[in-house]
Amino acid sequence: MTHTSDVLVSPSILSADFLHLAEEISSIELAGADWHHIDVMDGHFVPNLTFGLPIIRQIKSVATKPLDVHIMVDNPDEVAASYVDAGADWLTFHVEASKDPVALAKAIQAKGAKAGISLRPATSIESLKQLLPHMDLVLIMSVNPGFGGQAFMADAPDRIAAIAAMAESAGIRQRIKISVDGGINPSTAKLVRARGVDVVDVLVAGTAVYGAKDRRQAITTLKESK
Ligand code: DX5
Ligand code: ZN
Repeated sequence: MTHTSDVLVSPSILSADFLHLAEEISSIELAGADWHHIDVMDGHFVPNLTFGLPIIRQIKSVATKPLDVHIMVDNPDEVAASYVDAGADWLTFHVEASKDPVALAKAIQAKGAKAGISLRPATSIESLKQLLPHMDLVLIMSVNPGFGGQAFMADAPDRIAAIAAMAESAGIRQRIKISVDGGINPSTAKLVRARGVDVVDVLVAGTAVYGAKDRRQAITTLKESK
């Protein structure tokens, strides 16, 4: 294959070996990762608990690629700023949890980071209409947030295409990044990208990258999936 499009791959550290996190971070960078996807779960917004600020600060001290932090927490308005201070380059929060998404995006951007908004599979994409112009990224969940290794939901490609169309008609498609998260592997990446190369800019993948025998090959295959 000669053509590799410039889709970014953001491996989720949820599938990394936590006992050897520093080695995992360098290994995935050497394998060609563009960003590090970091899933913060609070055990309330989602039924799972992962890690918080101290771990992110430590990852930041060894990472050379941007940190793509996805906070699945009940109180993003209160805690987002501290995640930027800890090293998030991209900070994505949930529309279902924020009391004031526009104010929160502005606060994140004022601290020098990029702001992202995410939505659960059951949340109407209409809820994003007024918000997208204020965001740098939209993260579409293709599984119910909470766990790695779940199956990609069949209606996700339609939702992604609809959000891309929404961004297009708002005149912001060139500047906003569209990211998809959950159950991404070479076949599901193909389903998403079959709707047009422009519908997605970032593929988040945990199991399919960290779980692969050959991580470099896994990243290359995702980038070439069409
Ligand atoms: C799910 C997380 C995802 C997850 C992706 O709540 O937001 O980032 O780790 O993992 P895979 O690629 O294994 O579905
Ligand atoms: Zn995530």
